Amino acid sequence: MKNYNVTVLKGDGIGPEIVNEAIKVLDRVCELYGFKINYNYQLIGGSAIDETGVPLPQATVDACKASDAVLLGAVGGPKWDKLSGNVRPEAGLLAIRSALGLFANLRPAQIFAPLKSASPIKDSIIGDELDLLVVRELIGGIYFGERGRKEVNGAPAAYDTEMYSVPEVERIARVAFDAARKRKGKLMSVDKANVLESSRLWRETVIRISEEYPDVELSHMYVDNCAMQLVRNPGQFDVIVTSNIFGDILSDEASMISGSIGMLASASLAEGSMGLYEPIHGSAPDIAGMGIANPLATILSTAMMLRYSFSENDAAQAIENAVNEALATARTPDIYEEGKEKLSTQQMGDLVVSLLK
Ligand code: IPM
Ligand code: MG
Repeated sequence: MKNYNVTVLKGDGIGPEIVNEAIKVLDRVCELYGFKINYNYQLIGGSAIDETGVPLPQATVDACKASDAVLLGAVGGPKWDKLSGNVRPEAGLLAIRSALGLFANLRPAQIFAPLKSASPIKDSIIGDELDLLVVRELIGGIYFGERGRKEVNGAPAAYDTEMYSVPEVERIARVAFDAARKRKGKLMSVDKANVLESSRLWRETVIRISEEYPDVELSHMYVDNCAMQLVRNPGQFDVIVTSNIFGDILSDEASMISGSIGMLASASLAEGSMGLYEPIHGSAPDIAGMGIANPLATILSTAMMLRYSFSENDAAQAIENAVNEALATARTPDIYEEGKEKLSTQQMGDLVVSLLK
């Protein structure tokens, strides 16, 4: 029997509750599809700070490196907001991305047909379908560039540096072209090449890589225009590829268009099959422990794990089908709609488990 090792990082806030439901779902697909997953539970974020003093203990890094994939809930919360930069929960997330070489962040934003009315955008603008994928570079650029404080003309100042090397752009471009090839064959590269030198290098490099993908239609957009086009005509996009910081911002915007951030999953991939899978939403400390969080984004993240890290495509599809079926009759409070059954976090997890086939 195939055996996979998964490090589980429940994290903070609603992280533990939603991850518990995702694991129930994984356990059931293991039975149905004949493979086994071993879980290794480790600390990250605020809960790691509380127990060990740091947001990413070495034991967590070691466990992740020794596993086939990582499942993460969410990190952060008001309790740790006053800590300084490198000991905040978020620093743990950045550090694990970097330590595992997770350079490609895939964030699909789609509207689930039964949830169309949840979108804040008019039906006439959404059109029949919204299904776009943001491919965000995750371990370079201004997030990891040189930063610091200094004095300028006698006044305190601070700086952060945006820098990309050609190989960094090449590898993220290839991930995006490959993804576009498997979808509608359209790639939009987003930059700020009218101002930034790093963007000009980005654009040149993406154009050069496009020669390897004559079947993919490549276009370019400045990031400000893209932010506007996403709300003006989101249906024009298939795959968007962009830098770390632009991707951070645009992926939040894209997820909001779907109106159901509690539904969106993400994958962060390294070279090879290692990946870290997590919901797009945060730790929602305001509703933590109340049993009302939506576990579906985390459940859908496990489907991405099965597909991208384990090539268990049938099992992945089974999870996605079960989630769609669950939505037909039931909702957690965040996406509640008249006429549907209102379920708790656990009840939603149980319903998905019962619908798996
Ligand atoms: C995200 C988050 C993180 C990021 C934060 C929590 C550091 O916003 O995953 O998009 O900026 O990458
Ligand atoms: Mg973000």
